[in-house]
Amino acid sequence: MATTDPIMKAAITTAVSSHREEGRDRRPPKLRVVTVSGTLNSPSKTDALLDAIVDSLAQALRIEVCAVRVSDLGPQLAAALTQESIGEQLHNALSQIETADLLIVASPVYRSSYTGLFKHLFDLIGRHSLVNVPVFLAATGGSEKHALILEHSLRPLFGCFEALTLPIGVYAHGDDFTGGRVTGPDVLKRIDQSISQSVPLILLRSEERWNAEPGQ
Ligand SMILES: Cc1cc2nc3c(=O)[nH]c(=O)nc-3n(C[C@H](O)[C@H](O)[C@H](O)COP(=O)(O)O)c2cc1C
Repeated sequence: MATTDPIMKAAITTAVSSHREEGRDRRPPKLRVVTVSGTLNSPSKTDALLDAIVDSLAQALRIEVCAVRVSDLGPQLAAALTQESIGEQLHNALSQIETADLLIVASPVYRSSYTGLFKHLFDLIGRHSLVNVPVFLAATGGSEKHALILEHSLRPLFGCFEALTLPIGVYAHGDDFTGGRVTGPDVLKRIDQSISQSVPLILLRSEERWNAEPGQ
């Protein structure tokens, strides 16, 4: 999705160019983005929403994306009780999440909250592994009535990790999708708004992290 919103374009251009002017882009050029999907379905509206968010972010920043889907981890995730007793695929997924520059997390609403496997995945994440990591919150539901999942379920979960949840989350429901893609104009606009507000925070946090870990 190309960004057409002139306000968003201006905000992002300002953030990225002030970052460059201060010589900060000597750092690794690509941001390591990890998407985490709590869906159990394929095709999935939640995955379509993640695609739309990543498309919008890619208009603003150079990114490399790793996708973690709980349904791909399936039985080994459900059976895992500790980080010590897990297989290679799950270990790699946890490592990707714990070392991301930016997490974009999305879950379908199941009984007013995120899916059980989504929560179980984060139960296996180190308690201090996400401190100050920017987290973009997103969710899909069958109706618009459960949009507050972003605030009453997802934000407190990442608050527990002391992560930096980004100010505007995105919720989409049935009418916002056509042919497996997000087409609802309000949702697309909200994604753009969220990205434009988030880019300065994401760049600031990445810079702090790269300074703290100069070997990266
Ligand atoms: C077990 C189950 C529980 C659900 N509970 C809710 C709910 O409480 N509120 C709601 O709006 N949608 C609910 N839904 C609908 C899904 O959240 C919605 O269809 C979602 O977009 C599916 O995303 P997906 O295609 O990525 O799986 C539920 C669906 C299932 C299968």
